[in-house]
Amino acid sequence: MTLSKKATCNSHGQDSSYFLGWQEYEKNPYDELRNPNGIIQMGLAENQLSFDLLESWLAENPDAAGFKRNGESIFRELALFQDYHGLPAFKNALVQFMSEIRGNKVKFDPNNLVLTAGATSANETLIFCLAEPGEAFLLPTPYYPGFDRDLKWRTGVEIVPIQCTSSNGFKITAPALEEAYQLAHKRNLKVKGVLVTNPSNPLGITLTRNELNLLLDFIDAKGIHLISDEIYSGTVFNSPNFVSIMEILVNRNYMKTEVWDRVHIVYSLSKDLGLPGFRVGAIYSNDEMVVAAATKMSSFGLISSQTQYLLSAMLSDEKFAQNYVVENQKRLKNRHEMLVRGLKSAGISCLKSNAGLFCWVDMRHLLTSNTFEAEIELWKKIVYQVGLNISPGSSCHCVEPGWFRVCFANMSEDTLNLAIQRIKSFVDDYDYSLSRNGDGFSQNSSKNSRRKSFTKWVFRLSFHDRERER
Ligand SMILES: Cc1ncc(COP(=O)(O)O)c(C=O)c1O
Repeated sequence: MTLSKKATCNSHGQDSSYFLGWQEYEKNPYDELRNPNGIIQMGLAENQLSFDLLESWLAENPDAAGFKRNGESIFRELALFQDYHGLPAFKNALVQFMSEIRGNKVKFDPNNLVLTAGATSANETLIFCLAEPGEAFLLPTPYYPGFDRDLKWRTGVEIVPIQCTSSNGFKITAPALEEAYQLAHKRNLKVKGVLVTNPSNPLGITLTRNELNLLLDFIDAKGIHLISDEIYSGTVFNSPNFVSIMEILVNRNYMKTEVWDRVHIVYSLSKDLGLPGFRVGAIYSNDEMVVAAATKMSSFGLISSQTQYLLSAMLSDEKFAQNYVVENQKRLKNRHEMLVRGLKSAGISCLKSNAGLFCWVDMRHLLTSNTFEAEIELWKKIVYQVGLNISPGSSCHCVEPGWFRVCFANMSEDTLNLAIQRIKSFVDDYDYSLSRNGDGFSQNSSKNSRRKSFTKWVFRLSFHDRERER
């Protein structure tokens, strides 16, 4: 029996090196005791740094996770609840938390909020509401590899890249926006909007006021939508502070204009609270029609009632929520510094960043040529021989070969130190065995010399591992 085109087409993107790296990790995962030479997972933007804060709160508030209110069971009430408008108490707590993260400079109306099973569902639902199959959204590159699945796969919508480069720190510019718009027209694609992530995944940087203003000017002039995926808004650990698109809209008095209705925010608790398994996301839109349509569509991916109940209790504990955000940012900052410092000692630099759970790492000097083939060649060495699963820039549609996203918040400090040690040993031997030409690319790519040096450093590393175990 034949299957549907949707089931057999490959636009899901799971063949990308981003997902393949995860599969390789699954086959040989690092474990300090059981598999000390295994692959360390640095391709997963998970936040495991503040679980202790969540666990302490749970211990002090046993009712929240125990189907109870004031000691009385509410099991039956939660088991029957199925209203796709969501629990009012949870929506109130979530908009309050979103305001808190934005320094209370913006207020969100819970009536404009649609709950979804994570930002994955929120992004797809919005695309279903805003575009027809064959229409396009413009996205600045590099972008989150999951967007090929979330925005394109089931909706039939196309992504057209807004090309950003290292020459200006990957900033969005007016000419780059216009170029993408024209490129879409050349491909006969009607542009329905722009989607940005602020702070950016994979860059780990917040959008500047200048970029946000540019984006608003652009969507205003073209009469199109703007989706701002603000899933990392609570992870901003250094200045400049996070500025939400909603703040700029209000400051520029866009409230009574059409643009007000064409800006939509996506949020989730997967990163800021480190709960991707709970599947908690949301769409915030000023357009009533979008809110109504998205609410109906949310039937396909609701948040379970016990999750909503638990999190409404947690987030409406304002003291806890405020303290969590501050403490979590402090911990992210420390980790970020550890990774940046460690890589620097290996002669590797990162894009200067202030947010997120990862660094955008420049390994252009380790490529044997300025090509994506060389990037994948280096990536394979790093996965299979160095034992680190990181994400190559090409999986994020970066236009310059040699950039990699490296995550730092999904492991212990010891594991991060080991990862840094592995990369340092790799680079030491790499420098030793390969000569370079004037433009920084290695000339001597003799397979034998490389194999010899790898054997040496793999040996050295396992020796170090054994030493550590003692
Ligand atoms: C920019 C961005 N949007 C959406 C998602 C999906 O998040 P969720 O787990 O809430 O579906 C991610 C996850 O990595 C992301 O980085």
